[in-house]
Amino acid sequence: MSSDIKSSNITWHHGHLTAEERFKKLGQKGAVLWLTGLSGSGKSTVAREVELALVENGINAYVLDGDNIRHGLNKNLGFSPEDRSENIRRIGEVAKLFAEANVVVLTAFISPYRADRDLARALLPEGTFFEIFCDASLETCEQRDPKGLYKKARAGEIPEFTGISAPYEAPEKAELILKTGEESLKDSTLRVLHLLKERGMINL
Ligand SMILES: Nc1ncnc2c1ncn2[C@@H]1O[C@H](COP(=O)(O)OP(=O)(O)OP(=O)(O)O)[C@@H](O)[C@H]1O
Ligand SMILES: [Mg+2]
Repeated sequence: MSSDIKSSNITWHHGHLTAEERFKKLGQKGAVLWLTGLSGSGKSTVAREVELALVENGINAYVLDGDNIRHGLNKNLGFSPEDRSENIRRIGEVAKLFAEANVVVLTAFISPYRADRDLARALLPEGTFFEIFCDASLETCEQRDPKGLYKKARAGEIPEFTGISAPYEAPEKAELILKTGEESLKDSTLRVLHLLKERGMINL
């Protein structure tokens, strides 16, 4: 689906500001924090906490979250491998637009396929895409089961459930690994903020 090109006679329209000029005027750099991990590993929880910390410090941050996007933009997509890839492709493009608008965007999707995450990474300028692995064991996630999904998946009520009946490909080059089954939410949040600071994306 993603390789289909159906538009013709289209021209790129450039704005008046370069990325550098936009940064100077707005005082904020755009970035994509791509959280990945099993369902229940804490992607949404960490993303919301980081978003809050950034906004409280006057930095425009925004979370794109799994189910929310599937309610709207991606409501015509399911959970087949092809639809999962298209889901992530669209999120990657949306995240890129947010980052170009100088927003720190946090994406909270299982995004189980390495190749899909790499495609999202490839859309962004070097050094502005941060893959953050929420690394909690399947046992921990299943124990938490905040949405009752593992129970349903074990009962065979959800086909193609990541970690149970569909694969999860762990990152090999994540910028940050959060041991969300072991470290506290506060520690994870601080580690994300520290990474952004260290890489010159924020100035807190
Ligand atoms: N250190 C921690 N970091 C993050 N979440 C934690 C931590 N300790 C406990 N939790 C709990 O684990 C659960 C994580 O659920 P959350 O909805 O954030 O997962 P998710 O990765 O977004 O899952 P899904 O892919 O289904 O949306 C929450 O109930 C949260 O309170
Ligand atoms: Mg979530």
